[in-house]
Amino acid sequence: MDKQRGLIFKTGLVLLFLQAASSLEITNLRVPNSYTIARSEKDNTPLILGCEYDIDENESQGFVLKWKHNDLQFYQWIPSRNPVVFSSFRGHLDLDYSESEERLHKHSALKFISPMANHTGNYSCQVSTFQHVATKSAHLQIIVPETDFSLGYQRETNGSTLVFCNVGEIYPVPDVSLIIDDEKVTDVVVSEQVQDFTGYYNVSVQHILADQNKDMQIDCEVSIPATEYKLRTSMPYLGAAIRPEGTLQVFLCTLVAALVARMVCSI
Ligand SMILES: *[C@@H]1O[C@H](CO)[C@@H](O)[C@H](O)[C@H]1NC(C)=O
Ligand SMILES: *[C@@H]1O[C@H](CO)[C@@H](O)[C@H](O)[C@H]1NC(C)=O
Ligand SMILES: *[C@@H]1O[C@H](CO)[C@@H](O)[C@H](O)[C@H]1NC(C)=O
Ligand SMILES: *[C@@H]1O[C@H](CO)[C@@H](O)[C@H](O)[C@H]1NC(C)=O
Ligand SMILES: *[C@@H]1O[C@H](CO)[C@@H](O)[C@H](O)[C@H]1NC(C)=O
Repeated sequence: MDKQRGLIFKTGLVLLFLQAASSLEITNLRVPNSYTIARSEKDNTPLILGCEYDIDENESQGFVLKWKHNDLQFYQWIPSRNPVVFSSFRGHLDLDYSESEERLHKHSALKFISPMANHTGNYSCQVSTFQHVATKSAHLQIIVPETDFSLGYQRETNGSTLVFCNVGEIYPVPDVSLIIDDEKVTDVVVSEQVQDFTGYYNVSVQHILADQNKDMQIDCEVSIPATEYKLRTSMPYLGAAIRPEGTLQVFLCTLVAALVARMVCSI
């Protein structure tokens, strides 16, 4: 019984192997879920998209490799010829880049030159021969980090205290939350502005304190959905010590550089 099962299992494996070996298959599409454009040129790690596949040299007749961005083809490569780049990706790919000297793999991967926010999107690699076609897709989110991230509060002329968190020049639009004593504040006014030319966002979240005369811990959290990108900063609010006659009082914390995570506060 066991012997028989073993045999069936082995036969299955052999069949599977034969099937894999005789058809064209994309084994690994290397498209990162997100890529963050560093503000300083020297910190930039290159953006590389890879397309790995198994192909039988005997079945490689008519081989063409294509890359598409949101269903629009921008790259084509045929072995022993130079890759061709179309439309808006011209000038944004390093055509000398190669990860392999093998004839059928030499120009399958893409290395970007200065990636931009609008390179966000669905990427698919399509490999085809006269007999077979294989395609695989994945989504890439380009992130442009903020130039400004500040949390603060301000006494309004009518005596109320306004807490605000501002995120400046970030892409794509982030989720911004105010958190008071570990509880997310829902009673907020959110304003979003998008810069015409760059498409970057400024987001501001404001909240009027319900009780401004007690001490509390105020945090602001910024995240970009479906990515690992997260920023958080916090400040103490010493409400018990504030005298009601204080008029315009501004307290501001600014995160100088997200990577250094240094806070500068002033009163
Ligand atoms: C390719 O074809 C040649 C001749 O037809 C044969 O000798 C060789 O074993 C084949 N290679 C593979 C990997 O199938
Ligand atoms: C990317 O693919 C996803 C899932 O297939 C789809 O929902 C989305 O609309 C696509 N985006 C674009 C810009 O084509
Ligand atoms: C991205 O935007 C630039 C202009 O800022 C434009 O020239 C280019 O065609 C766009 N690229 C894509 C892939 O949409
Ligand atoms: C003060 O003005 C703000 C709007 O600027 C308002 O939301 C708040 O309720 C006012 N506070 C009082 C005590 O009227
Ligand atoms: C967006 O934020 C940046 C940085 O804080 C600032 O310089 C710019 O003026 C803001 N733009 C708008 C339209 O508010």
